[in-house]
Amino acid sequence: GKNLTIAIDGHSSTGKSTLAKGLAKHFGFIYVDTGAMYRAITLAALRKGLLSDPERFGKDASEVEQLLKETTISFYRDAHGANRTKLNGSDVEDEIRAMEVSSRVSYVSAVSAIRKALVDQQRRMSEGESVVMDGRDIGTVVFPNADLKIFMSASNEVRAQRRFEELTSKGKKVTFEEVLENLTERDRIDSSRADSPLVMAEDAVLLDNSSMSQAEQFELAKSWIEALV
Ligand code: C5P
Repeated sequence: GKNLTIAIDGHSSTGKSTLAKGLAKHFGFIYVDTGAMYRAITLAALRKGLLSDPERFGKDASEVEQLLKETTISFYRDAHGANRTKLNGSDVEDEIRAMEVSSRVSYVSAVSAIRKALVDQQRRMSEGESVVMDGRDIGTVVFPNADLKIFMSASNEVRAQRRFEELTSKGKKVTFEEVLENLTERDRIDSSRADSPLVMAEDAVLLDNSSMSQAEQFELAKSWIEALV
């Protein structure tokens, strides 16, 4: 049949990627983690020393252009079938999840030239495919005609607790307060930027998962996709 496009947007740490991966696997669709792309370009900028004052990033257009020219972002599957991110051919999946990146990514992702380049790539990756894509602007900007738009949210405390547990289980040294502060600050910047702010598309369905299990979310979203075909 026809290719389907599923857009999953929402606040930080609401379980978008867990749901998106589960759906992609179940339906055999490709999965694109757009947050990983913004994180990877942020890491590239960090390595070049361009983020000493993150709020100033993007003021120098030629600097951004140069960064984009020398940066290639791609994905691959490891031996366990897990999706991992590459920056210029090297695996950066663990590095892009670190707090150094999380605390700067919202400044980098607010720059229009960066967004334009990554949105172009996101559309190209989805050509001729059924896709589940998660991010902040998928249903509003990348695929305004998506077949299904899901907007995920949950209470700040629930989100911070989940992310805190995820990071500490991976051995990352963070405090709950630090994680909570990063989430709320990213949401604030992402929602207030001029280009492609985080907003729920008018035709999106809201999925507040504050008191839902991953299995319950999956079953619900699965039923929405099954209703499309
Ligand atoms: O999804 P994740 O939390 O990994 O995204 C990291 C950051 O990347 C977000 O806080 C946001 O600043 C940016 N982002 C974006 N547009 C997307 C996906 C992510 O601006 N489509």
